[in-house]
Amino acid sequence: MKPVEIAQGVYRLSANIGSRDLFEGIWPIPNGVSLNAYIVKGDNKTALIDLVKDWEGAARGITEQLREAGLGLGDIDYLVLNHMEPDHTGWLAELKKQQPKLQILCSKKAVPMVEAFYGITDSVKAVGSGDVLDLGGKQLVFEDAPNVHWPETMVTYEAVTKTLFSCDAFGSFGQVHEAVFDDQLSELEMRFFEQETLRYYANIVSSFSIFVQRAIKKLEALDISVIAPSHGILWRKNPDKIIRDYIRLASYMNGPAEEEVTLVWSSMYGNTESLVEAVRAGVEAEGLPIHIHRVPQEHVSFVLASAWRSSGIIVGMPTYEYRMFPPMYTVLDILERSHVMNRKAFRFGSYGWSGGAQKQFDAFTQAMKWDCLGSVEFQGAPKQPDHETAFARARELAKQVKSWKA
Ligand code: FEO
Repeated sequence: MKPVEIAQGVYRLSANIGSRDLFEGIWPIPNGVSLNAYIVKGDNKTALIDLVKDWEGAARGITEQLREAGLGLGDIDYLVLNHMEPDHTGWLAELKKQQPKLQILCSKKAVPMVEAFYGITDSVKAVGSGDVLDLGGKQLVFEDAPNVHWPETMVTYEAVTKTLFSCDAFGSFGQVHEAVFDDQLSELEMRFFEQETLRYYANIVSSFSIFVQRAIKKLEALDISVIAPSHGILWRKNPDKIIRDYIRLASYMNGPAEEEVTLVWSSMYGNTESLVEAVRAGVEAEGLPIHIHRVPQEHVSFVLASAWRSSGIIVGMPTYEYRMFPPMYTVLDILERSHVMNRKAFRFGSYGWSGGAQKQFDAFTQAMKWDCLGSVEFQGAPKQPDHETAFARARELAKQVKSWKA
């Protein structure tokens, strides 16, 4: 991979990570993910903004790109850490060893984390909103952006080239190859990154949607020519598009989201499963798209992305030993942590000798402010009236989704 010049003296260094590992040890990345770091070369000083974790040769790749940009590690005066998560800092201890004179700049909250994660206490300086670092012909301006993604997060703006280094904000999953900027992408590639942005947002950022909204409000005052996130493509033709996409995604937290329905179901012996087709038909009778996921066969990462974008959620789940079926319990727990609030919903499912799942599900939906139609619950195998009720309820839910206005 080559360094990419974004503006005079500003370079993107990047590493593509493959699909072998889970991101954050939990989320599958079937299309990989990119880790971006940036060089800002002033007349007097040079700053490196964000790092990589030494993951699949990422550190070596970054060092080589640095060399191709005419720099060695010894030429870096400042390291700006916008965010402490190890995908952006994992290489820090080794880099500091190789360049001991490095001055680290990070938010006040990040200072103890630099010590906690990497044992580094010297040459670490806290910066905050409005602080400026003059590199000579380039000026870095810092802005706190707490909880986008962790509490210590900040963003960095280079005032001469009007480049915003936004770290996790405006990022996506998916490897980036020759097409690095939004204007270099085909329509198909743009659709790909829109999908990867949705899943990244739902999996990584969604719980912090209120903070995303606050951060975007703060950034409104900036004149931005390029958005340079630490994952995914760079936005120079239309930076406003990714800002609007993030505003839209953040708004889904409290519904309504899109006029779509997610059906997530699990089944032990096929009795709960046997209502899936009736539910699908009910939603489709109202002309709405339905995303169907079976768990535990499908990873919760994909369920969460669908649920985040859907105004309607239907849960097919049997009772298991007086309580919710465990794999679905895990899914619902993730939806709760990710703040998938205020949805139109209902549950269908079977029980053997006693119910119990519904009671637990009701407590969950109440906490999540889901507006629930009645459940379709049955002992053993569903009968014809259960099929008819499931169809009618799914159709009613789709109607409510269609008529739901923000
Ligand atoms: Fe890409 Fe929150 O780290």
